[in-house]
Amino acid sequence: MGNRKLGHAVIGYGGMGSWHATVAGMLPELLEQRGIFDIKPDRCAVAREKGLRAYESLEELLADPQVDLVTVATPNDTHKDLCIQALQAGKHVVCEKPAALSSAELEQMIHTAEQNHRLFTTHHNRRFDEDFLCVKQLYEQRTLGDVFCIQSRVYGSRGVPGDWRNQKEHGGGMILDWGVHLLDQALLMTDEKMVSVYAVETHVTNDEVDDGFIVTLRTESGLLFQIEVGTSHFIPFPRWYVFGQNGSAEVDWGLKGKIVMVSDWKNKDAVPVVAGAGLTKTMAPRDKDSIREYPLPEIHSDVLDFYRNVVAVIWGEQQSLITPEQMRRVMRLMELVFASAEQNRVIEERI
Ligand SMILES: NC(=O)c1ccc[n+]([C@@H]2O[C@H](COP(=O)([O-])OP(=O)(O)OC[C@H]3O[C@@H](n4cnc5c(N)ncnc54)[C@H](O)[C@@H]3O)[C@@H](O)[C@H]2O)c1
Repeated sequence: MGNRKLGHAVIGYGGMGSWHATVAGMLPELLEQRGIFDIKPDRCAVAREKGLRAYESLEELLADPQVDLVTVATPNDTHKDLCIQALQAGKHVVCEKPAALSSAELEQMIHTAEQNHRLFTTHHNRRFDEDFLCVKQLYEQRTLGDVFCIQSRVYGSRGVPGDWRNQKEHGGGMILDWGVHLLDQALLMTDEKMVSVYAVETHVTNDEVDDGFIVTLRTESGLLFQIEVGTSHFIPFPRWYVFGQNGSAEVDWGLKGKIVMVSDWKNKDAVPVVAGAGLTKTMAPRDKDSIREYPLPEIHSDVLDFYRNVVAVIWGEQQSLITPEQMRRVMRLMELVFASAEQNRVIEERI
């Protein structure tokens, strides 16, 4: 490990900026809190009340030689310029997600980092979600047999929150907000390339930006991802459903859920059940003799590993968990999602 602590500062001390200051403050052996900068005086006042230094200006923060690492946690449209300024000032940069609003912007940011020999990475904290890691384990270990479909959803019921998230010019909308997390998780689930994307946006509460979306992704072997974000849904759905040849899993936040496996595939006999205005054998639930229920595997994850890795990368001791190539891939996928929704067609691109 390096010979001194890295000085850390946060630009944008709103909801997520204050979380970053708190989390970085939980690693005092690695990071020294230097302070924050926010354009809103009331946010600076809150920071000072918490004992943090609030810099008078961005320039003052970036000129401080004690600041080695900057986290940018401002509205999405400001990421590019702030990250480039910080990188040019010689700071390592963690940028909140989505790193940029387009691949072109992202290339400029990555290029500036390379030119200045500084780390530039995105805060993909949901890679540390235990529900995601559980589904990834079920998929990789083939617990359910070969998985053919993964459904990944988040539903809220309050529309698009806040101010800038409702506005296109600030990079608002749910594709850029939650979509980036769910698409990044899908890309990490498998080593396969995605080959097609179909997306539909919803505008239930908001005409300017999407307040939800449904995306269907297909990989080269035919694995199907159904990814959905909704903000007008008053009855929740589990976070994940995973369907394999020999079983299904339901995985929710807090690792709630279950695995149901077929124990006797040959037993296809079923007593017809009344369903709606008819009878069905095909859709009749299996009787208890031919299925078994199991708990989800235990998964432990620690989101502090994100900053532990950032620090180790800066000291040249580890590879970054979140690489420029991965950032490029999820950015491109979001562009395809927007394009598919706008053109109402399947877009085929290997990504
Ligand atoms: N990774 C996650 O889990 C997660 C969760 C929430 C938000 N985010 C991301 O964090 C970022 C901020 O979101 P939020 O919910 O905290 O928003 P927010 O509105 O609560 O906070 C943004 C803050 O940035 C400040 N700000 C705006 N422009 C600035 C500038 N030029 N210089 C300095 N400060 C500036 C605002 O005054 C505000 O205090 C967004 O990119 C969002 O996508 C990530």
